[in-house]
Amino acid sequence: GMMDQMPARVIAKCMEMGMMVTINARLDFETIQVLADEFGYDAQLMEEYEEEVLGVDDSQAEDLEPRHPVVTVMGHVDHGKTSLLDWIRKTHVVSGESGGITQHIGAYEVTTSVGKVTFLDTPGHEAFSAMRARGSQVTDVIVLVVAADSMVMPQTVESIELAKREKVPLVVAITKMDLPTANPDKIRAQLAERGVEVEQWGGNVSCIEVSARTGEGMQQLLETLALEAEVLELKASKSAHARGAVVESKLDAGKGSMATILVQNGTLHIGDPFVCGVYAGRVRAMFDDRGKQMKSAGPSAPCQVLGFDGTPQAGDELTVVEDEKTAREIASKRRMAARERDLRARKSISLESTYEGV
Ligand code: GTP
Ligand code: MG
Repeated sequence: GMMDQMPARVIAKCMEMGMMVTINARLDFETIQVLADEFGYDAQLMEEYEEEVLGVDDSQAEDLEPRHPVVTVMGHVDHGKTSLLDWIRKTHVVSGESGGITQHIGAYEVTTSVGKVTFLDTPGHEAFSAMRARGSQVTDVIVLVVAADSMVMPQTVESIELAKREKVPLVVAITKMDLPTANPDKIRAQLAERGVEVEQWGGNVSCIEVSARTGEGMQQLLETLALEAEVLELKASKSAHARGAVVESKLDAGKGSMATILVQNGTLHIGDPFVCGVYAGRVRAMFDDRGKQMKSAGPSAPCQVLGFDGTPQAGDELTVVEDEKTAREIASKRRMAARERDLRARKSISLESTYEGV
């Protein structure tokens, strides 16, 4: 189908070349190249094509500059993640949440006493493990929040495992230290059982006791995060075409498709044409976490972006390209590839079910 040649002609050509193929056969790329050549086309692997057009290898860029860290706050439900960030940001997000439960990823760039930090707030409820996984994939450091009056709980363990899997350094914040029932030593013991050896006990994981009520320990937590970030020597190019990750997306009734993008390299500008997952677009408007219009967003900055021709999925990558035509071309190729993958998956499922019980 890819070359709009009648399948029969392609099959005939294959036979001429001494290959027996059926209409559903998957041809390897070399064969496709030969066939394409026969029919006067130029076949190119999707990855090769994308590499050529998108041409990004950030690590090779020459104008790398330090960038501020992306820190994801994780932990069990109700252990105090959003409150901790509310204290740092001097905001009141928790009081506006329905049932006091976080149900999406919040992305905030904060100017703190130790410099800029981008924080991602994840939900602790067990239902949102996909969001936690996503948070762990785009972050430089994880703050594991454990309530001092509680225990190491299932989503505490899940967060520890995500940090290990993604090889992201962990800083423990034992919070709610203002409560009379606070028992940080018990928490440290339970963490040790899970392989998290805190420095108070001779390990190398920083563990800070904090309270979002009194602000106790917050300065120390920020300083610890700054130290962790320094060790990582985080760098990015400001001048490159932007590349970022979709942290969240939605279809807004009034505004259309919008996504929270975490810029990972380069600078995203109003008007930039981009491809994002299987969609294309052009940055129509950008907003910061307080709804303020932005003209551009540099490395480590989160921003709400409008201008997609469809709603991308969380986890998709956004890449700025030369022009809208290129963006649409790549997007449509990706859509075709996705459709084909989908079809093949369905075919193999229907085959499996045909053979069931044989
Ligand atoms: P999810 O996002 O739903 O997982 O919850 P969360 O971890 O963000 O917890 P949240 O910040 O919503 O706090 C849960 C409850 O603990 C709220 O009632 C907070 O007021 C309370 N809380 C949070 N931090 C502290 C603290 O430092 N001290 C005390 N005493 N209460 C706290
Ligand atoms: Mg929360």
